[in-house]
Amino acid sequence: MKANRWDDHYTRRARDEKWLARSVYKLEEIDKKFNLIHKGDRLLDLGCYPGSWSQYGIKKVGLQGKVIGVDLSSPTKLASPNFRFVQADVFSLDMAALAGEVGQMDVVISDLAPQTTGVKLTDVSRSMDLVRRALQIAGAMLRVKGNFLCKVFEGEDLRSFKAEVAANFEAVRLFRSQATRKHSREVYLIGLGFVDRQAGV
Ligand SMILES: C[S@@+](CC[C@H](N)C(=O)[O-])C[C@H]1O[C@@H](n2cnc3c(N)ncnc32)[C@H](O)[C@@H]1O
Repeated sequence: MKANRWDDHYTRRARDEKWLARSVYKLEEIDKKFNLIHKGDRLLDLGCYPGSWSQYGIKKVGLQGKVIGVDLSSPTKLASPNFRFVQADVFSLDMAALAGEVGQMDVVISDLAPQTTGVKLTDVSRSMDLVRRALQIAGAMLRVKGNFLCKVFEGEDLRSFKAEVAANFEAVRLFRSQATRKHSREVYLIGLGFVDRQAGV
């Protein structure tokens, strides 16, 4: 059978190592470099389906920690006592109710991605709407000094979005993963050390 063009090194490796998606290697690479996720953490994973980032998070936080995954689709192959799935559209997610139920988060990660249309402007703009929403959710759910990671597509708005992240975190980093396909425009923004600007206002 002819090899699928996506069936590259990371796809095969993910299958062999029983990860639910190849994107796990991007999170692993970022986590190793920026020390984002720790044992015992409460982790919120936005756009968690099919589940490899949550799978990685579950291992990393251990049984003392907790992973909450949010997506439109249910990651049916993922089950763990310290994993909870919330089926929701992030734009209608009730953050106050979620915070009331699960408390503040140590880390918020977002791999949210729209269905691509092939029209560059539309795809970049939908992706920006999702990352802005992810930052809003992080702002509502993170504890002070918590960490944030989100996938962004390179475009004109990236610079202004990076400034928005910088305004809410002690440090911001832009990172391109080795596991990202060569022609992809995806990059990752990392916010380290959440500064709660709303506190005391
Ligand atoms: C690239 S996939 C995430 C892969 C995942 N990180 C993993 O490692 O398995 C992007 C996900 O974003 C989700 N998504 C896109 N728009 C969404 C929205 N408005 N609300 C919730 N999830 C959304 C999609 O359903 C899709 O599962």
